[in-house]
Amino acid sequence: MCGITGYVGKRNATPILIESLTKLEYRGYDSAGLALLKSGNFNVIKKTGRVASLANEVAKKQIDANIGISHTRWATHGGVNDANAHPHISSDGKFTLVHNGIIENYENIKNFLVNQGYTFASQTDSEVLVNLIAYHYEHRTSPDTKNRFTESVRKALIHIEGTYGIAVLGKDFPEEIVVARKGSPLLIGVGKNEYLVSSDVLGFAGRATNVIYLEDGQIASITCDNCDVITMTNSPVGIDIKEIDWELENADLGTSKTYMQKEIFEQPKALENAIRGRISDDLSTSVLNGLNITPTELRQFDRILFCACGTAWHACLVAEYLIEKYARIPVEVEYASEFRYRNAPLDKSTLVFVVSQSGETIDTLQALRESKRKGFKTLAITNSVGSTISRESDGGLYQYAGKEVGVASTKAFTSQIMICLLIALYIGRMRDLSFSEGREIVKAITSLPNAIRDILKLAPQIEKIAKKYSHYNDFLFLGRLSEFPIALEGALKLKEISYIHAEGYPSAEMKHGPIALVSPECPSVILANDAEITPKVVSNAQEIKARSGKIIAITNTPELFANIADDIIAMPNLHDSVRVIATTIPLQILAYYIALERGCDVDKPRNLAKAVTVE
Ligand code: M6R
Repeated sequence: MCGITGYVGKRNATPILIESLTKLEYRGYDSAGLALLKSGNFNVIKKTGRVASLANEVAKKQIDANIGISHTRWATHGGVNDANAHPHISSDGKFTLVHNGIIENYENIKNFLVNQGYTFASQTDSEVLVNLIAYHYEHRTSPDTKNRFTESVRKALIHIEGTYGIAVLGKDFPEEIVVARKGSPLLIGVGKNEYLVSSDVLGFAGRATNVIYLEDGQIASITCDNCDVITMTNSPVGIDIKEIDWELENADLGTSKTYMQKEIFEQPKALENAIRGRISDDLSTSVLNGLNITPTELRQFDRILFCACGTAWHACLVAEYLIEKYARIPVEVEYASEFRYRNAPLDKSTLVFVVSQSGETIDTLQALRESKRKGFKTLAITNSVGSTISRESDGGLYQYAGKEVGVASTKAFTSQIMICLLIALYIGRMRDLSFSEGREIVKAITSLPNAIRDILKLAPQIEKIAKKYSHYNDFLFLGRLSEFPIALEGALKLKEISYIHAEGYPSAEMKHGPIALVSPECPSVILANDAEITPKVVSNAQEIKARSGKIIAITNTPELFANIADDIIAMPNLHDSVRVIATTIPLQILAYYIALERGCDVDKPRNLAKAVTVE
């Protein structure tokens, strides 16, 4: 949440900062702003709304500076208005700052600073920090303090409780940006005679080939030809420069209208990438070297815990079905945000997985840290190479789904399930899954991308159905067994991009309450693709029909719903192991077209942001 960027070099910083912000806009889009430092003066331009409005404003001013910082905001403290937009300037006019995170003790610090004569122009917690830096510059350092700018920032940060990724400019330091992080991501892109700062590799917009991932508790002083990193205790840190894989980071819209559309249609490719190099036909199993764990070690675990948030949490629920079914190991799934505070008793033979597309979700990151602190082996499934979660975990598997920009997760979800299926197969084949059962699953996995290509061809039919149902304000999504989490995901997708109230339930559970919602005004989307349970789901559908509820059935037995459902999306018959991945696709397309029909911005739904880096 919130994207921060910075530039110091020989070029005009303005277009670079605007382009970076455009790339980071998925992180928050309540307001945007930038600060340029030229001839000893700050030029700060900030505006409520999208980066495009800021860009128009900036174009009018035509400021050509070689150093600047910028920000795209997801509001936490203080309403969405120009005053609360970043950058913020200290009341003595000496520093300006952009911040991603939350300063929890800002009120105490603000009271202290007010008593010292500092004034405030916004309601934000971030403005408190820039004034605290000014205070330390003025009162806690002297002109002969070595690295006085960095030192003022460091001394201020010692008093901060909460999380931050910050970039700061100082009027007295016309060639230097100081950046720091704790809990919020911060990357330094290394160019030729220039450095860039960003919350995410994407913000470098292809301008850097190398990156320094700042770690929590580190502060960096950056000029156009130098970058020094220190710790909060003022010890120098050796710099570890990594190469950026721009093929993985590519996020061009191409010919698609929206990122969500592009990402839905990229799913066959994303699944192929998740599978590539990870299947052994000879052994009818998967090959998961990234887990960083030997088969002997893996055999010691007799319980698996998954932690994640949102859509990734739904993927974990599917993992529970897959791993329990194929590997016969008990699986528990926790919301990461609950796990970190719940102090759940965990058996010592528990293996922990955290799942996060962005690899930066604060709750998932904290769950990872909590689990590691307690001494558990903690592995990660993430789509973001080099992300904090991937760096801090004991091992794990990258999804390689390609950059997901649309706020509503689509290809990352199906690829997370695929990775979990590979894990189920791997552990299953070490335990009681036979060679021939393994071979069936391998066959199903490798043929799935093409099956998904066929399902995507249903988009025009689903678009028509979406138009028919787009005016309803309540929906139920019902599915049983492993299709229950898919029902939850279908409801979340619809809710987050179209603002329609939607709930997911196990179909049979409907009778215990949600059936009260059933009426001609509340359609139900019913998932029925598991032959073992389909007759029961048909009965549930009849119960809805009897109460004049409209039904959209997504089923591989359309004949059973011919006289019950108002609309049917016919699905292919697929192997049990991969079926739910396929069932997800029509739900994504349905939500997409309903949202478009209602005129919603599917890529940037209101109030949301792609990576949730604050609590
Ligand atoms: O990056 P993560 O996978 O950790 O993100 C978790 C959730 O914030 C995310 O899945 C969210 O629920 C999406 N907006 C769902 O579409």
